[in-house]
Amino acid sequence: MTTGTTADAVRSDRADELVGAADPAAGLAVSSQGLTKRFRGGQVAVDRIDLAVPAGSVYGFLGPNGSGKTTTIRMLLGLIRPTAGTHGLLSQPMPARAADVLPHVGSLVEGPAFHPYLSGRDNLRRLDAADRHADPGTAKARIGAALDRVGLTAAAGKRYRNYSLGMRQRLGICAALLQPRRLLILDEPTNGLDPQGTREVRALVSELAASGVTVLLSTHLLAEVEQICSHVGVMHRGRLVAQSALAELRAGSAPRVHVTTTETVQAERTLTRLGLRATARDNDGLSALIGSADPAAVVAALVHDGVPVRAFGVRAPDLEDVFVGLTGEGFDVSG
Ligand SMILES: Nc1ncnc2c1ncn2[C@@H]1O[C@H](COP(=O)(O)OP(=O)(O)O)[C@@H](O)[C@H]1O
Ligand SMILES: [Mg+2]
Repeated sequence: MTTGTTADAVRSDRADELVGAADPAAGLAVSSQGLTKRFRGGQVAVDRIDLAVPAGSVYGFLGPNGSGKTTTIRMLLGLIRPTAGTHGLLSQPMPARAADVLPHVGSLVEGPAFHPYLSGRDNLRRLDAADRHADPGTAKARIGAALDRVGLTAAAGKRYRNYSLGMRQRLGICAALLQPRRLLILDEPTNGLDPQGTREVRALVSELAASGVTVLLSTHLLAEVEQICSHVGVMHRGRLVAQSALAELRAGSAPRVHVTTTETVQAERTLTRLGLRATARDNDGLSALIGSADPAAVVAALVHDGVPVRAFGVRAPDLEDVFVGLTGEGFDVSG
């Protein structure tokens, strides 16, 4: 499928939604309703999640380790069976349409098993030969194009065991690209990579997205979402606690004042008296939602109440504040 057709499909699907098409999955590259996984022993790893990944998006599936991302991805790909709920890929119900849909879906989940003593190219030949959807007549050209796409052409003859982590991860993505794909599902594609490898993989994902492929990638790194994603779903203890366009999430978050002072007790009293909500102390003072208060009046009141104000500022919260607010925990989201 070419870029043009993908974009057109997105547009027409969205138009359908506007006129009230009945299919809830229209225009969604990934959708789920109440998707749940309870492992033997009773632990609920994924708890009734409703995913909505718009076609054409780069969707960051964000959450700390153990929050249920891999389990969800394994269910989406049909690698494990959900305990409850339904899902669809490329607007088709799964697993009913798996045979038609999965050839359009590339994935990287814990990486395919590559042979350490074979070259990157020979590993791809083996994988492609084992894929019954692959045409052996076009294998050479497809492997060459995929290697090109991930920037591994020069290293294609090197043994896999001599690849850097970044090259290994790119070979994994390369394997997912041996066929033209409409959807890529990548589980923590930059996990364990050095900064250079991370940059390479992020650039590759952005390029693929620009060519019209929908990408769902899981990550525990907020910075990754901020850099390359258009949409985000936040997982916390098996629940999907937020899901929206990144821009919407930013817009919906309210600005806060920060007062740098040693007199946090009095400062908090003053801010509360002025009607500022959600005060929170930190290392060098405290912050609160500014609401409709006038920042100049807040400073004046603090000074009037004898609070030594060393610094004062109003800032839009960064996404980290938003996520900590959503999950109630400062999980490892930066980096
Ligand atoms: N095969 C399994 N059997 C039992 N529990 C599992 C299994 N796989 C994952 N879990 C548990 O499910 C939860 C979610 O894990 P996972 O989906 O791997 O999270 P993430 O990918 O976000 O780190 C964790 O508590 C994990 O220990
Ligand atoms: Mg995982």
